[in-house]
Amino acid sequence: MWGAVAKSLDDQEFCSGEMGPHLQWWYTGLKKNPGYSRMPVYRVRWKTLLYVDVGVSNAQPFPKLCARSSSNACDIEKKLEDVPGPKPTLPFIGTNWQYWPLLGSYSKDQLHLAYLDQYKKYGVIHAEEFQWSRPFLKVCHPEDFEAVLRRQGKYPRRPINAAVKHYRLSHPERYKSPGLVESDGEEWYSLRSKLTPVLMKPQTIQKYISQQHSLAEYLVECIKSSRDVTNAVPKLDDLLFRYALESVCLLCLNKMTGCLNPNGELSPDAEILITTVHKLWKSFQEVYFGPPLWKYFPTLGYKRYAEAEDVIYRITSAMIDDVERGMENRDDSVTGLISDALLSVKDLDRRDVRTTMIDFIAAGIDNTANMIIFMLYLLAKNKDVQDKLRKELDEILGINHATISPQFLSDAVYLRAVLKETFRLMPTTPNLVRILPDEIVMHGYKIPPGVPISCQMYVACRLEKYFPQPQLFSPERWLSSSDHPPNRFASLPFGWGSRMCVGRRFAEQEILVTVAQLVRQFEISYPSTLETIHEFLIVPVHPTGFFMRDRRSKANMNAEKLKKLQGEVRIGGKGSARRKKKVVHRVNIVDDKKLQSTLKKVNCNPIPGIEEVNMFKNDGTVLHFNNPKVQLALSSNMVAVTGSAESKQLGDMLPKVFNQLGPEQLIKICNFSGPQSRSAPGADGDATTTADDENDIPNLVTDFEAASMYEQKTTKTEDASEEAVKKEETKPEEDAPVAAE
Ligand code: HEM
Repeated sequence: MWGAVAKSLDDQEFCSGEMGPHLQWWYTGLKKNPGYSRMPVYRVRWKTLLYVDVGVSNAQPFPKLCARSSSNACDIEKKLEDVPGPKPTLPFIGTNWQYWPLLGSYSKDQLHLAYLDQYKKYGVIHAEEFQWSRPFLKVCHPEDFEAVLRRQGKYPRRPINAAVKHYRLSHPERYKSPGLVESDGEEWYSLRSKLTPVLMKPQTIQKYISQQHSLAEYLVECIKSSRDVTNAVPKLDDLLFRYALESVCLLCLNKMTGCLNPNGELSPDAEILITTVHKLWKSFQEVYFGPPLWKYFPTLGYKRYAEAEDVIYRITSAMIDDVERGMENRDDSVTGLISDALLSVKDLDRRDVRTTMIDFIAAGIDNTANMIIFMLYLLAKNKDVQDKLRKELDEILGINHATISPQFLSDAVYLRAVLKETFRLMPTTPNLVRILPDEIVMHGYKIPPGVPISCQMYVACRLEKYFPQPQLFSPERWLSSSDHPPNRFASLPFGWGSRMCVGRRFAEQEILVTVAQLVRQFEISYPSTLETIHEFLIVPVHPTGFFMRDRRSKANMNAEKLKKLQGEVRIGGKGSARRKKKVVHRVNIVDDKKLQSTLKKVNCNPIPGIEEVNMFKNDGTVLHFNNPKVQLALSSNMVAVTGSAESKQLGDMLPKVFNQLGPEQLIKICNFSGPQSRSAPGADGDATTTADDENDIPNLVTDFEAASMYEQKTTKTEDASEEAVKKEETKPEEDAPVAAE
C-alpha cells in the first residue's frame, strides 16, 4: 500500500492518506494509458480539487505520486499560456525585455544564473516567450526531464541554429545538408546512422588512448616550459585549446596541426583555427539568442558567424584534401575517423565529410578544453579531493610512468566520480532542449507538440532534494558507497538517447586521460575565483591562472616565498610578471638536413627545454646526450633524440642522475642495477605490461560508469547512453540511431 501526500491551497495543511478504493481504480485506469498524466482524486474542503501528477518511470516499481492542488476545477484544462513566467508579454519582443540592459534584471551572458533565479521566482515549471511569440518552456526536476526525453521519438529534435542552417543551405556548392548538429528528421538520421556505429563504439575510441596519453605527456612538457618562476601557467587555457584541437584532428584525420608547440614554429593555419573557433561560439550566442534580423539583412553577428565558418571550412578542407592525397601511404594501425570511416562510406557525399569535420572541430574543442579547466579548478579548490585522486592514480598506475590503458579508465573509479561531480557543478551546457512530436501534460499543463522544452539541469543539480549539500564538491556522492545515489536524469552533460553527443566517448576518454596525467605530475592550485560567462557554452570569463608545481619539488619551495611571489604576479594581461633572465638553452645539434626533413615529414615536433638524455644500456654503460634536440611524433609514437653523444660508465653518471631523481625512481634504479631484479617483473614486467595494455582492450571497459552506485542500483534501467550504444552495436544499421526509446 502506498500513500499520497497532498497540500491544499485553501487550508494550507498537509494531509496524507493510504490509497483508498478510488485511487486503486484510478491506478488501474492509468495502467491502460501509461504515461505522464493527471487526474482528479479527492475533493476536500471549500471545493478544492486535489489531483495527483504521476510520472511513470521505468526506474520506479510503482508510479511516483506527487500531489498538487488548485482552487479551481477548470484548471484541469490548464494550457501553456497559464504556465507561470515573467509578465508582461509584449508584442514582437515577448518577454525578452528581461535580458535588456536597464529594463530587465538578467544579462544574456549570465543565462545560467538567470535560470537559477527564474526557478526561485516562478517554480518548477515556467515559461518565457521569445520574439514573435515563440514560447519556451522550462522544467527543473529530473523526473520531468525523464518524462520529456522518453517521448522524444525516433528523430529527436532540439531547436536548431537557424542562421547556420540558412548559411549552409545557401552554399550548396560546399554543403549538401546543414550537417549533423543542425539537421532534423530523416536527413539527420541518415548522417547519424553512419557515425554512431563508429563513434559510440568503445573499441573504436579505445584505440586512441595511447595517442591521447602521448599527447597528454606532451601537454605536460608544454606546461613545464611555459611556467614562470612561481610555477604559474599564465596561458593554460590557450594550451588546452590547442591540445583539444590536436586531439580532434587525431580523431578525424590521424594528423596533427602542430599547434601545441609554444616555443617552436607554429602552423599559421592552426593559430587561425583556434581563434576562429572561439569567434564561432561567440557569434552563435549573437545569432541564436538575438533577434533573427539576419533573416532580412546580414547583421553584424551573422557576418561574424559567416566569416568564422568560411575560415574553418577553408582550413579543414585543406587538411582533408591532404589526408586524401596521402591515404595510400597511411599507417593502418590507427587511422583517423574521417580518413578511414567516412571517406570509405560509399554513399556519403564528400561535402558531408567536410561539414562533419567542421562540426566536430566546433563542438569538440571548446567543450572539452573548458571541461578540463573546470575539473582542474575544482580540484585546485578542493585539495583533499585532489590528494585522494592522486592516491588512486598512484595506486593504479604506480608512481613511475605507467601507460594509461583502457583498463585504467575502468579501474579509476574516483577519477570518473570527480568528472561526474564536475559536470554537476560546472557543466559547459546548462540545459538540454527537446521539441516533442506529441502533446505532453506536465504539472497539469497541456503542452502542445512543437514547443521547445528545456530541461534545466543546471538548476536540478543545485537542488538539495536531489543532491544533499549541493554546494559541496563531493565526488563521493557518485560512488557505490553513497547513501543518496543521484537521480540519473539530473545531470546529462552529453545529452540523452539517440541524439546524445556523438563525441561523448572520445571526449570523456580525453578528459580522464588528461586530468590523470596532470594530477600525477603537478600539484595544482588556483589562488582566485573562476568566474564563468554564458557564450552559448558556459566558459571562464578571463584567461585562467593556475599554479602547477612539480609534485616532487614540494620541499624545495619555501611556502612564504612562494606566497609573496604569487602575490606579485598577475596572470595574463598587462603588467604580468616576466622572467627576469632569458633562459638560453645552448643546443649542440648535428646539422643533418636530410634527417631533419625526414623528421618533419612524419610531423616530429621539438620538445623544448630538455637539457640531457641518458640511455642506460645493458652492458652497464650510459649513452649520454648533453643539450640534445628531442622531437616527438605522436601519430607514429616516435621520439627522436639528436645531438652529440658520449658513452659513459654508469658509476660516473650516477651521482649526477641521483640528484635529479625522486625516491621512487631511486628504488627503480636500484632494482635496475641489481642482478636479480633484471629478470624480475620490475624490469621486463614493465615492458610486457605496457605492450599488453596497448594491445588488450578489455570488454569490461565498455561502461565507463559501471563503478558508480547509481548504475548498480538501477541495473534494470541502465544508463540511456549505454543502452543506446549497446543497441547501436547489435542492431541493423538502419536502426542505428534509435536508442533507448
Ligand atoms: C566535454 C565535451 C563535450 C560535451 C560536454 C558535449 C556536449 C554535447 C551535448 C550536450 C550535445 C547535445 C546532445 C543532445 O541533444 O542530446 C552534443 C552534441 C554533439 N556533440 Fe558534443 N560534447 C562534447 C564533446 C564533443 C566532441 C569531442 C565532439 C566531436 C568529436 C562532439 C560532437 C558533437 C556533435 C557532432 C553533436 C551533435 C549530435 C547530433 O545532433 O546528432 N562533442 N554535445
